[in-house]
Amino acid sequence: MSDASAGTGGAGFAAAELARIDEAAAALRARGLAGPKVGVVLGSGLGAFAERMKDATAVPYAEIPHFPTPRVAGHAGRLVRGTVAPGVEALVLQGRVHYYEGHTMVDVVRAVRTLRRLGVETAVVTNASGGVRPDLAPGTLMCIDDHVNLSGDDPLHGENLDALGPRFPDLSNAYDRRLRAVADEAAAAVPVRLAHGVYAMTRGPAYETPAEVRMARAVGADVVGMSTVPEVVAAAHAGLRVCAISCVTNRAAGTGGGVIEHAHVAEVAARVAEELIALLAEIVRRVAAEAS
Ligand code: HPA
Repeated sequence: MSDASAGTGGAGFAAAELARIDEAAAALRARGLAGPKVGVVLGSGLGAFAERMKDATAVPYAEIPHFPTPRVAGHAGRLVRGTVAPGVEALVLQGRVHYYEGHTMVDVVRAVRTLRRLGVETAVVTNASGGVRPDLAPGTLMCIDDHVNLSGDDPLHGENLDALGPRFPDLSNAYDRRLRAVADEAAAAVPVRLAHGVYAMTRGPAYETPAEVRMARAVGADVVGMSTVPEVVAAAHAGLRVCAISCVTNRAAGTGGGVIEHAHVAEVAARVAEELIALLAEIVRRVAAEAS
């Protein structure tokens, strides 16, 4: 029996996890971080988005009760409240933890659930991915329309957190239809090219085999990556609307791009970061304008 499934399935798990989330939220409220209705989850190399916000207040994850800390280079690990555009505030998770680092799914989604407890209603999530569909060349930005969870795990496995959401949440609009249109409108305004497609999450940390990429294609995936799905499932469960943007950094294994190296993935992400940051700011601005 794995520790994680024993732990989440046991009686009292939900109450204990909710207490951890509420303790984290209370600590952040005390430091003045409650208020923004839009949350942003930044993937690797996008820290500049948080650094450019005005009137920013930042709290390192290490100072937030029960927040796991990222162990990957490029993920600073801070929660930042700041102003993205005049009158538009956001709560930004600068750095995320990944399942492949050895965190449990429940650990991975605690930050997103805490944002919800702090009053966030919309989450804009970013990541890096490998392009499976031939037209999704490195450097392409893609709005995620849907996902396939190939990780073999699920953040909702175990006793349900009834205070956050239902036992059997519907995921048919997990990537909110209206927000996907907002992403297109924002992309046209910036302007940047924005593709659409389906994201498949693999467990990692190894990149996929060519056979796994063919399988991902066969089950409907356009890109593959190692994050996002846990956060989106937990967000949908808790009633958060989600918009997710993937930066395609390489051709997925066996699709003609040669050897995949993390350094190259990071280099492409850095090259596209400015475009993605501009798109993110425009999406956040439009989401806030629609909500007010
Ligand atoms: N596979 C999985 N995750 C990734 C990839 C990939 O090819 N590129 C960036 N993240």
